[in-house]
Amino acid sequence: MFELDDLSVTRDGREILHVGRLSLGTEGVTAVLGHNGSGKSTLMALLARQIRPDAGRIALEGRALDGYRQRDLARRVSFLPQRLPPVAGLNMRDLVGLGRFAWRGALGRMGARDHAVIAQAMLDTGCEALADHLVDTASGGERQRAWIAMLLAQEAPALLLDEPTAALDLAHAYEVMALLHRLSRVAKRRVVVILHDVNLAARYADRIVALKQGHVTFDGPPRAFLDPEVLRSLYGIEMTILPHPDGHPQAAVA
Ligand SMILES: Nc1ncnc2c1ncn2[C@@H]1O[C@H](COP(=O)(O)OP(=O)(O)OP(=O)(O)O)[C@@H](O)[C@H]1O
Ligand SMILES: [Mg+2]
Repeated sequence: MFELDDLSVTRDGREILHVGRLSLGTEGVTAVLGHNGSGKSTLMALLARQIRPDAGRIALEGRALDGYRQRDLARRVSFLPQRLPPVAGLNMRDLVGLGRFAWRGALGRMGARDHAVIAQAMLDTGCEALADHLVDTASGGERQRAWIAMLLAQEAPALLLDEPTAALDLAHAYEVMALLHRLSRVAKRRVVVILHDVNLAARYADRIVALKQGHVTFDGPPRAFLDPEVLRSLYGIEMTILPHPDGHPQAAVA
């Protein structure tokens, strides 16, 4: 889906991201991991065209990302930023409805299908009971789920999510990841998701890409990632891998 070629981003005279050749969105779920400040959000902002690279190229489906009209891009790529902006006066349903903007007709009116997609997205993320609540007074996790619902309502084949589970309780974090995994299977969506939880990533991702100081230092399947040596070199701490009765090994701080 995305093809990156010799990308570089420099801020304040420092190269904060350098990526050689990399394809992203080729697997169902790709998790991007790495220490704070490793360049994850920068990488995702490039994919979502929120920022432009200082050097290098990004192509989406064989065409330069730069060349897409905004609406065409929104029909292909949806993006959940790490920092969610305030949305004064909107209730949860209104927010989710914003996800339909790229699909509305000339008059901008929503039809029966739009309403059905919105309702389903709220159901999938467990915010249907909160539909009439104001987004800005909802809890952090409720807000985050409403934003994820908005992303789902956009119905783009590529979903980019920057730490979508950061504010979620354990159950909702697993539910959201299970949902993204399901979407990648049932609806053939391509999900690229930034996470900090190594075990959550290993359980639901098909591929893990890890960044360290702005460089890709690991790219492979979860089983190869859950390795004490890989984790030590990435995070600089000792971890052990524990077998788990359901077949998903778990990393734990040693
Ligand atoms: N606009 C900017 N100006 C200056 N420095 C920046 C800018 N954007 C990012 N950086 C720096 O680039 C580095 C990478 O930032 P980025 O937000 O991509 O990290 P991250 O991997 O998402 O971290 P986190 O896990 O904390 O979200 C950081 O050191 C950050 O301070
Ligand atoms: Mg970040």
